[in-house]
Amino acid sequence: MGIVETMIGIIVILCVFGSIICKRLVKQYAQDPIRQTEKDKDFALNMSFLGKWFRFLAFFFTVSYFIYIKVQGTPWQAHLQEWMDLIIRWLHIIFGIAWIGASFYFVFLENSLNRSNVRDELQGNLWAIHGGGFYFLEKYKGAPNKMPKHLHWFKYEAYFTWLTGTCLLIIVYYFNAESFLINPEITHLTPVLGVMIGISSILISYAFYELLSNPKMLAVERRPLFFLVMFIYLAIVAYVLSIFFNPRAAYIHLGAIMGTMMAGNVFFCIIPAQKEMVFAAKEGREPDVSLGQKAGWRSYHNNYFTLPVLFIMISNHFPSTFGNEHNIIILALLSLAGAGIKHFHNQWERGETNYWIIPVSISLIISAIYITAPLSREDLINAEKVSFSTIFPIVQKRCQSCHSKIPTDDVFIVAQGGVMFDTPEQIVQYKDQIMNRAIITKTMPQGNKTRMTQKERDLIETWIMQGAKLD
Ligand code: HEC
Repeated sequence: MGIVETMIGIIVILCVFGSIICKRLVKQYAQDPIRQTEKDKDFALNMSFLGKWFRFLAFFFTVSYFIYIKVQGTPWQAHLQEWMDLIIRWLHIIFGIAWIGASFYFVFLENSLNRSNVRDELQGNLWAIHGGGFYFLEKYKGAPNKMPKHLHWFKYEAYFTWLTGTCLLIIVYYFNAESFLINPEITHLTPVLGVMIGISSILISYAFYELLSNPKMLAVERRPLFFLVMFIYLAIVAYVLSIFFNPRAAYIHLGAIMGTMMAGNVFFCIIPAQKEMVFAAKEGREPDVSLGQKAGWRSYHNNYFTLPVLFIMISNHFPSTFGNEHNIIILALLSLAGAGIKHFHNQWERGETNYWIIPVSISLIISAIYITAPLSREDLINAEKVSFSTIFPIVQKRCQSCHSKIPTDDVFIVAQGGVMFDTPEQIVQYKDQIMNRAIITKTMPQGNKTRMTQKERDLIETWIMQGAKLD
């Protein structure tokens, strides 16, 4: 059985189990006379909701399984995969924008509240103008005396961003593990083992983060230490993953790890703390403040994760980052720069200005630009001449299966990136991109599926340096 069938099978079994457990819980809670507090009712409601989702997913994946069996080995397989990729990526960006947008907005609100001359029960307020209207917002110190009937929550953006992200990881990197996940030049992992390493890296990292985020380590004076430990841990994970994985997959896994920490913070910490506040208010008791404090720290962490994660999400368009031999250092430099800029921005909104952070962050980015600069091989100009007739067969053999009007690859069935190498003129037209992808960053052929050798790369490099002539 292939990796796709195995994964779909596991998902369906998990969903069926999940649905059974949810059903049981709902039943238990409904019958148990002790479990009738606001909190229990809310829990039972959530379980019944979750159960519905599990049933829907089990149905969806079972149908997908049969469709997969039907199209497997036909051109429709790759075609449907591409469309799934497109639709889920689209959704992922939409949810992600909604989540990060709301999160930036509330951080801005908190940082910019007018805290003077406000009613006793308020922490602050803020006037704003947007979309042709004036808005006046008030933040309460604790819960309001009377809970409003309609209270808006911000959580599904986070959950759906995580879910669509996980689906993308599976469709792009796990279903095509051979071309996108594992690095055939360095390790001889099977796709299944590669997928297991990927998933465990996310789970282990989440556990590590959860253990590290204890009240002791989160105390204000230990913040720099917390940051340092987290940074070193993530750098080590990135390094280890880059040994096993295609560099692009190593990058994206780091994004998935941080994204999982962010969504986990919302799910396991921030929302439960808010629920506790609502229940306490409804039951007329004091809320458990430690939960609220924990939630505050976690959303503070999320704030700093955003810019590095967003960089990683767009990094796969930039082979000179992940394709560089120092790719982990580049990732570290850009992540630090991103977190630094976010730090400056937060302080600035609060009216504190630590301007030095900006030149430091910019220098980090400039060093990344400098490290990724291509080596100049002027010496090749005078080397033994390489003619087009030498490199044409190489390109045909190593690239055309995916880059042709009629590709012959089993997975990539349209010309990838719109790039075709059918005629000599096309090869000349794309010489700079060929230099970038096949020589400098070695990110092509994808997963080196066509087994291009270094000798062939050298020949093409010399040909391009000698002017990419057609004779
Ligand atoms: C196994 C399939 C496969 C082979 C073989 C392959 N490529 Fe690609 N190529 C891809 C895919 C997939 C993409 C799009 C994803 C990306 O840009 O990383 C791509 C994108 C590109 C791009 C970037 C297009 C853009 O959007 O700017 C270039 C340039 C390129 N390939 C060059 C080459 C060269 C040169 C070779 C041969 C040495 C080669 N490819 C062999 C699959 C392949």
